[in-house]
Amino acid sequence: MILVVGSNGMLGRDLIALLGDRGHGVDIADIDITSPESVMTVIGALKPEVVVNCAAYTDVDGCEGDIETAMAVNGEGVAYLALACREIGAVLVQISSDYVFDGGKGTPYVEDDAPCPISVYGESKLAGEMNAAFCPEHLIVRTQWLYGLHGKNFVETMLRLGAEKNELAVVDDQIGSPTWTVDLARAITALINGGCRGTYHAANAEYCSWNGFAKAIFAEAGLNVSVRPMSTTELNRPARRPLYSTLECSKLTSDTGFQPRLWRDALREYLKLRTLISSERTNNGTW
Ligand SMILES: NC(=O)c1ccc[n+]([C@@H]2O[C@H](COP(=O)([O-])OP(=O)(O)OC[C@H]3O[C@@H](n4cnc5c(N)ncnc54)[C@H](OP(=O)(O)O)[C@@H]3O)[C@@H](O)[C@H]2O)c1
Repeated sequence: MILVVGSNGMLGRDLIALLGDRGHGVDIADIDITSPESVMTVIGALKPEVVVNCAAYTDVDGCEGDIETAMAVNGEGVAYLALACREIGAVLVQISSDYVFDGGKGTPYVEDDAPCPISVYGESKLAGEMNAAFCPEHLIVRTQWLYGLHGKNFVETMLRLGAEKNELAVVDDQIGSPTWTVDLARAITALINGGCRGTYHAANAEYCSWNGFAKAIFAEAGLNVSVRPMSTTELNRPARRPLYSTLECSKLTSDTGFQPRLWRDALREYLKLRTLISSERTNNGTW
């Protein structure tokens, strides 16, 4: 059995759906990863072969003002999971982030590049990566710029704003790869099935700025919104973000055969699925 911790989150829900009968999900109502007792009780009782930790404190700006919670959930929580997995001989899969890098490299980051976080969130995710190593059988999957049907994300924010306004300013000096949680779930499954261990990068292929991503969302959704450039400095958020954090994913492909598709193709399919679901909901409401 593959236990997904954080199964009500954006990635967790898509991963659980993909795993079908192989998967079992738990979230904060069943397990609190900041409590060693809670972690040991749940993992000891379920005895999974693999634990995928999708649980995290993911509010990047919120982490700046709450270092304690950030480190408890994203850092220490992973240590408790790793120790529990070691105890029962399970594999721990820890989901991590491009924010462990400072964004100064200028070319795609490979797995061996030295992390150098520039935010509390990034520091806490790096602590989680290091703590995952308490479990001898561990796999770290770094990803970035996630969107999906089951959580707050940039695509949903743009669609909401695009329905209200015909002009928006979006940062054009942060570069990365938008990644659909369904595609990430497929990559994680390929890594588990392939028996991979160590660190891997997994994201949709090719990259853009948030500004370019916003333009693509509006174009694919058929919304006529003008997107002006603005800088990260102008946006003035509490947490610093890496300016260039594209992840090189060729190790994932060479070790598993899984080839992430282009981010724009994934976005197109996501929007189609979203439209289909909302028209089904409307039809159901009419009947
Ligand atoms: N979102 C991104 O763009 C992004 C980018 C790179 C990496 N990642 C990583 O990808 C993973 C999945 O992200 P996501 O966006 O799917 O996250 P998410 O939607 O925020 O889901 C996280 C889940 O973990 C739960 N949780 C929080 N604290 C917990 C605790 N102490 N014990 C048990 N469960 C707890 C949350 O419950 P509540 O909602 O009730 O708090 C939520 O259901 C995370 O490791 C994240 O760091 C995300």
